Amino acid sequence: MPAIVILGAQWGDEGKGKATDLLATTETIDYVVRTSGGHNAGHTIVVNGEKFATHLLPSGILTPGSTSVIANGVVVSPEALFRELDSLVERGVDVANLVVSANAHVIASYHSTVDKVTERFLGKNKIGTTGRGIGPAYADKVNRLGIRIADLFDESILRQKVEGSLDLKNHVLAKVYNRRAIEVDAVLEELFSYVDRLRPMVADSSLLLNTALDEGKTVLFEGAQATMLDVDHGTYPFVTSSNAVAGGVCTGSGVGPTKIDRVIGVIKAYTTRVGSGPFPTELFDENGEKLWKVGGEVGVSTGRDRRCGWYDAVIARYASRVNGLTDLFLTKLDVLSSWEKVPVCVAYEIDGVRHEEMPMTQTEFHHAKPVYELLDGWWEDISGCRTFAELPKNAQNYVLALEEMSGTRIWAVGVGPGREQSLVVHD
Ligand code: GDP
Ligand code: IMO
Ligand code: MG
Repeated sequence: MPAIVILGAQWGDEGKGKATDLLATTETIDYVVRTSGGHNAGHTIVVNGEKFATHLLPSGILTPGSTSVIANGVVVSPEALFRELDSLVERGVDVANLVVSANAHVIASYHSTVDKVTERFLGKNKIGTTGRGIGPAYADKVNRLGIRIADLFDESILRQKVEGSLDLKNHVLAKVYNRRAIEVDAVLEELFSYVDRLRPMVADSSLLLNTALDEGKTVLFEGAQATMLDVDHGTYPFVTSSNAVAGGVCTGSGVGPTKIDRVIGVIKAYTTRVGSGPFPTELFDENGEKLWKVGGEVGVSTGRDRRCGWYDAVIARYASRVNGLTDLFLTKLDVLSSWEKVPVCVAYEIDGVRHEEMPMTQTEFHHAKPVYELLDGWWEDISGCRTFAELPKNAQNYVLALEEMSGTRIWAVGVGPGREQSLVVHD
């Protein structure tokens, strides 16, 4: 399979890093590509008990022999990029094969300043962003006030662009938020300090990836964030500022949809969410606490607790549809051991009406009450299972029931964070 997409089917943190690692250990991956978001992501891989987390880089940087690509759709903080690279090098990871698109947009320090003051201003209506400047950088891109990686190599263009970008922001910072204006020279000095180190990494990533696909190489697009955080298809406005769905892979890389062979949605056997926004199956009782505790549900990027709830098949069906999923990778099944019955949301009740599909409006989604089906639980520790047949019968039935109600075949199941803790259901 030459072009494969891995993406999040819920609200993020489903185990996309683990899915990338699983594919990379079962077949040769030549390129691993990030196409949207920035260092708001946190992807975990556990190899021989050793834990690695990547943020701006694809977790595929840990796959020996593959080239990592940060494509045009990503927003790049050079400061975060070099910090992440340095910490991987310190741990002995070879990071030499890294390509950054000339067209990717730059996150400068003022983007995260604007992100934080905007959130503070919103008060109880805040989005709960990661504060990394993602939204303001994408806003500049769409407003045609952005700085692209290629601009860093032209001193006079960069000055003009930074001046243009800061002009309105400084008025707003000073007059609305009562903050000190940001100095153009200080921003330029910081950005210039990255230029020499960045230069050898920069390339036309669309040309590179299309050429690779024409040569029969395998390209893995490692999604960040997730379907329900997508700026078009997620729970707007409680979303990130990019297209995390499969379509975003094409715009974010310059690879056309006809080149993509397989779209794998990663989905937890229950649901979590970080930040604000609606979440129909959220639990506020001891079950939620148990999922949080057993699942270790603390954010990799910000250290915030994740909100926890039961599996939502309406979301799974929606993710199958808007992404054209070919496979699901069901993670964290091991966390569900030791419940007598496991509730699964099969539909919503909204103002007295049953909805099998995602409602059309966010107002309805805010009012959605989950309709649960109770599936039989299991007590055994399944973290040592390596084949589907080794799972207790009720765990097998749980997987098959989810497959039936989610609209997509379940390719593999995760039974622990470790590289070896996955089992393939359908080849
Ligand atoms: P990502 O952002 O989608 O890559 O996911 P994160 O790395 O943010 O969060 C997933 C967490 O679950 C990480 O701590 C993983 O190590 C862990 N994890 C992934 N798959 C499994 C699994 O099957 N079982 C368990 N127990 N943990 C898993
Ligand atoms: P990975 O790739 C979970 C959430 C934030 C916030 C909203 C907007 O690890 O799954 P932003 O900083 O992007 O403007 O924040 O999106 N968010 C994530 N939640 N996993 C992520 O990435 C996320 N990236 C952003 O918590 O609610
Ligand atoms: Mg994550």
